[in-house]
Amino acid sequence: MDYPISVLAQAERKVVDTKTLPFGKIPTEHMFIAEYKDGSWKNARVTPFQELTLSPLTLCLHYGQTVFEGMKAFLMDDGSINIFRMDKHYRRFNMSLSRMCMPDVPESLFKGAIRRLVGLDADWIPTDDDGSLYIRPFMIASEERLGVKVSEEYLFMVVCSPTYRYYTQPLRIKVETKYVRAAEGGTGSAKCGGNYGAAYYPTSLARAEGFDQVLWTDSKTHEFIEESGTMNAMFIIDGTLITPALTGSILDGVTRDSILSIAREKGMKVEERPVRYKEIVAALKSGKRVEAFGAGTAAVVAPIAVISMDDEDYECYTGDDATMYELRDHLLAIRRGRLPDTHNWNNIVEKFAVT
Ligand code: COI
Repeated sequence: MDYPISVLAQAERKVVDTKTLPFGKIPTEHMFIAEYKDGSWKNARVTPFQELTLSPLTLCLHYGQTVFEGMKAFLMDDGSINIFRMDKHYRRFNMSLSRMCMPDVPESLFKGAIRRLVGLDADWIPTDDDGSLYIRPFMIASEERLGVKVSEEYLFMVVCSPTYRYYTQPLRIKVETKYVRAAEGGTGSAKCGGNYGAAYYPTSLARAEGFDQVLWTDSKTHEFIEESGTMNAMFIIDGTLITPALTGSILDGVTRDSILSIAREKGMKVEERPVRYKEIVAALKSGKRVEAFGAGTAAVVAPIAVISMDDEDYECYTGDDATMYELRDHLLAIRRGRLPDTHNWNNIVEKFAVT
């Protein structure tokens, strides 16, 4: 059943050239909002983009009950609008919500909200291959109360922002062996706001040393690689794609999953398993060609040029013929409709206007 969603007052169209702006700086003209109260979702509506009014007592401002997703819409070569892998994003959103003790969003509400919003603001989808419309569904605890408690009220919202390359240069990253992103039994596999805020401090220390990001290691031994910044970490050594297995402290990345499927289809050997950072050092020291990259919705495939481990800098391969670019281009070709969508990853959305 489709969830009833009203569209209130269409904003004036003012698509601007956003190509040079930082990621997520400019929202599109509309947003979606629905309220959860007394055990059910109410008032689902698309409105002009607007500010929120929240009491200083609002629970999400104090105890971190916030969850988000990051998705993308693409313009296909035939002019269709394509929202990529809604199903997998939807499942992950609800998994994150349940980890944070927040209520599920019904599938028809989640998908209906995004389809409606993207259909209305479709003119904002960049046309060139480096561009897409970033879609940010998120939920916050909105009950007004200072007591430490699970909120009984929530807001589910969706906003969009045109985006281009998240990183413009191959990255310099540092293996982090003091601070951790997530521990076993923690919230590492949930997309909750706290995971990101907690990463700022170690990342800022790495930045002060000239690195772009950190490569997180496990909390117990600091020997095993977890993620890179806000992306899943991947390596290609001797033609084998190696990535840390999903142990519970790592995010089940949608781009990660897509890249692994494409690599397998291309006949590459793929290994999802614990990856010791010393194994990567050994491969680099032996003179093997090592490709390293981050995979994520915002960054897609972000090549890593330098990895610093135990105070030594090692160079990874980023030449034009690197396999990671082939995987990235294949993914783009599916999203743009240049290659068949054999997994049903694409969701075609109708453009519409309020008359
Ligand atoms: C994403 O890739 O969607 C992310 O979550 C990374 C960041 C923009 C928070």
